Amino acid sequence: MATTVIQEGQPGSKARFADSFVLHKLMSLTGVIPIGLFMIFHLVVNSYALRGEAEFNTGAKAISYLPFVLVVELGAIFVPLIFHAVYGLFIVAESQSNTGTYQYGRNWLYSLQRWSGVVALVYILIHVISTTGVRWTYEATGGPMGHEYGYKAITYAAMAYRFANPLYLLLYVVGILAASFHLGNGLFNFGIRWGITIGKEAQRISAALWLLLGLGLAFIGIWTAVNYHLVGRNFQGRGDITQQYRSLDDLVKNYGPVPVEQNRGATPSGTTTAVPAPLP
Ligand code: HEM
Repeated sequence: MATTVIQEGQPGSKARFADSFVLHKLMSLTGVIPIGLFMIFHLVVNSYALRGEAEFNTGAKAISYLPFVLVVELGAIFVPLIFHAVYGLFIVAESQSNTGTYQYGRNWLYSLQRWSGVVALVYILIHVISTTGVRWTYEATGGPMGHEYGYKAITYAAMAYRFANPLYLLLYVVGILAASFHLGNGLFNFGIRWGITIGKEAQRISAALWLLLGLGLAFIGIWTAVNYHLVGRNFQGRGDITQQYRSLDDLVKNYGPVPVEQNRGATPSGTTTAVPAPLP
């Protein structure tokens, strides 16, 4: 990975809003803390799905039943993410092309950093609306069953239902690749911007390290997504899950016969428990 040029405030730059030193630093920082950390944590937690249904659902339940989950989601994820994305879009819109100014490879990384950000943003929007957005809708409109339905909308079976659609899988493959590159190359730039990796040797080591992290994240994420697709195409050995349930709503309301509240004791005989044992 070659050095990417930080070009805020350069003579002749057309950028205005994007030239703000403080905002640019804040944008750089939010990309690492909390967004980068969240992405690593999120992909690792989601890989529980590779172990199986109960394992993934236990993790999903622990998060969705967290006290003040909305405050944590808004404060630690959505507000920094929106700031980072909006400021990033300003940079894309206001900056001039640096073609001809820097080495060919650097130009490529410079452009790719921007476009991977735009692709990741589109992906994250669709992804969040189709997962957390659906959970919030059930919680807001589901009455006494709202929280239960909200949780069931993001369980293993619900994710397998979404991923059974090859286009949904394709969206994830593209989105995860873009987000992993954006974080890996972004961390490399972060080291230079914050004066951490100044010398050539330090930059060589950091390039190798962040390349490894990017590849690792892409691998974990895509493996999880492909596994969901395969599970959805032959759910519990009974064929395509989308043929077993008319819609995601049908699955949310009818799959996993044991609602969380009633699951705090014996399982009714003859039913398969999709919901894992309740958390203490
Ligand atoms: C295999 C890949 C992925 C899977 C299976 C997955 C799954 C999920 C699920 C189930 C939720 C809903 C959580 C909830 O509402 O409690 C969620 C939310 C979210 N995901 Fe992902 N995700 C993946 C990749 C990514 C990537 C690469 C990013 C990029 C940063 C990302 C960003 C987010 C964000 C920002 C939220 C909303 C935060 C939240 O509600 O907790 N996801 N994801």
